[in-house]
Amino acid sequence: MPKGLYKYVWPFIRLLEPEQAHSLALYALKSRLVPVPTPYNPPELGVYLWGMTFPNPIGLAAGFDKNAEVFEQMLDQGFGFVEVGSLTPRPQAGNPRPRLFRLEEDRAVINQMGFNNQGHYAAASRLALRGEASGIVGVNLGKNKDTTDAAADYEIGAVAFSPLADFLVINISSPNTPGLRTLQGPAPLRELLARTLGARDSVSVESGYTPVLLKIAPDLTDEDKSDIAEVALDSGIDGLIISNTTIERPETLKNARRAETGGLSGRPLFEMSTRVLSEMYLATNGKIPLIGVGGIEDGKGAYEKIIQGASLVELYSALVYEGPGLVDTIKRELVDCLRGDGFDSIVDAVGAQHK
Ligand SMILES: Cc1cc2nc3c(=O)[nH]c(=O)nc-3n(C[C@H](O)[C@H](O)[C@H](O)COP(=O)(O)O)c2cc1C
Repeated sequence: MPKGLYKYVWPFIRLLEPEQAHSLALYALKSRLVPVPTPYNPPELGVYLWGMTFPNPIGLAAGFDKNAEVFEQMLDQGFGFVEVGSLTPRPQAGNPRPRLFRLEEDRAVINQMGFNNQGHYAAASRLALRGEASGIVGVNLGKNKDTTDAAADYEIGAVAFSPLADFLVINISSPNTPGLRTLQGPAPLRELLARTLGARDSVSVESGYTPVLLKIAPDLTDEDKSDIAEVALDSGIDGLIISNTTIERPETLKNARRAETGGLSGRPLFEMSTRVLSEMYLATNGKIPLIGVGGIEDGKGAYEKIIQGASLVELYSALVYEGPGLVDTIKRELVDCLRGDGFDSIVDAVGAQHK
């Protein structure tokens, strides 16, 4: 849908309760009611990583397509890749509603969803039907709220989705599952990564090699960040996704909904998540590919994450306010940013701020 057209749709969407609006968006996408743009993937936007060629570096972040229902439609909207999930082994309802809030004047969202999803089986059944040429799809793994051995849920996920996904994401950074983020501590993290990678390896003969990435929170101390960098480098994981939503509430927030608990995303997360991205690029000596997420709403924002160290980027919240036409706009603006600084490709620009 062109950005211009969404301007006329938005006044109606904003009247709907946010979760209803999301369901309506999924329905419209599934029914193919959303116009599909002409593909725009100039060669300078291509990224070769983990043995795959991403047609462009702009991905859909986890949480939009939790159950792998519209990944093909979102690829058709121009995303270079889509991350589905978070998925837990068993279906779960998540937290009571309302649990999703728009902070319109802040261009932000607060969510306290709590991994509502249909579980591995439903999503795997859909992914199993996707065609060879459907584009790059990652699967984001979470844990059920009542699971005590958290690592077991990620092992199950790695075995279930290695054959179906182009990459896997270990999500231990959502703020809405009690105790989840404590898995980011060095000892539990070491064990979690070893067990998940072991599970991935146990099926790699049949599945081929599936890269595993770790998604981290933006709310980490300097010690946390240096511990995570060390464990990430030792463990052999393939990448880091930086970052999930924040539990911070910046002073600048205007909307009264700022008092809701949960994870804040969108514009107020941009600076914070980009700072953590930059720090993690330096802490890992640029040795692990990074995906930058948090508050991207234009090509300049995507470019900033890339020069701070991101090989790819993702977004979600800005789609709420701008519609799917934003993807095409961001790609065009990103090409202008690259050319403006004399870069021939994304790869040349990655981490340029630190060189
Ligand atoms: C409604 C909503 C649901 C989300 N659900 C998930 C999720 O299930 N798993 C996950 O790893 N991240 C989830 N996220 C976080 C996003 O993937 C992303 O990391 C974060 O929103 C920052 O990007 P943004 O500012 O572009 O939205 C969710 C975000 C929102 C707004």
